[in-house]
Amino acid sequence: MKVIGITGSPREKSNTEYYVQYTLDKIKEHGIETELITLRDKKIHHCTGCYGCITAKECTLEKDDFEEVFNKMLEADGILVGSPVYNSSSTAIVKALLDRAGFLGRWINNDMKDKSENYQWKGTAFSGKVAAPITVARRAGQNFTFAELALWMTVNDLIVIGSHYWNVGVAGKGGAVDAEEDLEGASIMDHLADNMAHVIKQLKK
Ligand SMILES: Cc1cc2nc3c(=O)[nH]c(=O)nc-3n(C[C@H](O)[C@H](O)[C@H](O)COP(=O)(O)O)c2cc1C
Repeated sequence: MKVIGITGSPREKSNTEYYVQYTLDKIKEHGIETELITLRDKKIHHCTGCYGCITAKECTLEKDDFEEVFNKMLEADGILVGSPVYNSSSTAIVKALLDRAGFLGRWINNDMKDKSENYQWKGTAFSGKVAAPITVARRAGQNFTFAELALWMTVNDLIVIGSHYWNVGVAGKGGAVDAEEDLEGASIMDHLADNMAHVIKQLKK
């Protein structure tokens, strides 16, 4: 059993990284292997909409760090996706990763059908995995970004895990890195970790 935590802040030791690592540490207490994957040091080009993956069953863009992260997502039973809120949305690198992973993950298992044919659904590369968004903002845009990530999870056939509140953390003014002061945020992540570990164990029975 393994859970990965993807963190999409471009900043080193960011608030997002704090919340994602905090949640992974709690999940680890349930005997589940964990790994933090920071996108900060990765180069991931945005999807160009070439539709090459439909027939190639792999991303046909010039090689970058996408494949490494995608393969980690495939190996995992649970995926946390953490993003800072930038202009009420996720960061560009999170969007680039999710656009490519979602499209490739769909067409790896399925064939594009003509509209006169029945769609024979064979699941995505992520079907049956559990996932949860974690977002961090100073003030506004949490719900939009949280929903953006949750919508990616639900359209890609993942099982979304909740907590006693949305999995959001708050950060101080001027780029402050002070997530450890957000005790309510920690409590939300504690419960998220318990829920995710519980569901993974039930699914693995
Ligand atoms: C380009 C940019 C856009 C931002 N947009 C928002 C925003 O829409 N709402 C908000 O509350 N905070 C916004 N912030 C503040 C960040 O969400 C906040 O500093 C957060 O801690 C960043 O996450 P990190 O510490 O993981 O890097 C923005 C910051 C930057 C740099």
